[in-house]
Amino acid sequence: MNIETLEFFGAMAGHQRLGPDAMVLRGFALPFVSELMPSIADVEAVSPFRHMVTPSGFTMSVALTNCGALGWATDRRGYRYTAIDPESGKRWPAMPDVFARLANEAATAAGFNDFDPDACLVNRYLPGARLSLHQDKNERDYEAPIVSVSLGMRATFMFGGLKRTDPTIKVSLYHGDVMVWGGVDRLRFHGVMPLKEEPHPLLGSQRINFTFRKAG
Ligand code: SIN
Ligand code: FE2
Repeated sequence: MNIETLEFFGAMAGHQRLGPDAMVLRGFALPFVSELMPSIADVEAVSPFRHMVTPSGFTMSVALTNCGALGWATDRRGYRYTAIDPESGKRWPAMPDVFARLANEAATAAGFNDFDPDACLVNRYLPGARLSLHQDKNERDYEAPIVSVSLGMRATFMFGGLKRTDPTIKVSLYHGDVMVWGGVDRLRFHGVMPLKEEPHPLLGSQRINFTFRKAG
């Protein structure tokens, strides 16, 4: 398919371009939800959600865990990827097949072929939780995109520029939406505004986000 045809079908599906290499795939994860939900419980049983501390000593309002060969972690010493969950002392749980399949298909739909993530950060937001503007730059490979899946309550996602002070655009991310950014947009600042309590029929008063990366 040529690029015009791809764009046309994307627009029909409600996909929204946020940059040359960034787009929101509306509802892309919906067909996967019934398989994703039990997998979250499996991950959580091995590596529970926890509130990590940033290098500046701030306790994050977002609770997180990971699956895959590598997991993102932070403490007073800095941000990094680890093979071992610092809390359990064991490997992070393996990435369920359905996660990897969804991430690969979403990346392809956004124009990034052969995405093979080795890390999936799972974020849990309760009402009031937020994520301040940051760049995803602890990964070794900036060639691969970031694929971010939203489930549950709506979030207002902020997408900025390459400098922290650049203006941000705000986009609502709904249950089932997948946001992909890579290429020239790979290092754009982004964050999430404090979550409003708008309970979701399936997940209640929470939002779960998966961010897939090629980290190692
Ligand atoms: C992140 O940047 O790690 C998460 C983004 C989100 O929760 O949508
Ligand atoms: Fe991020």
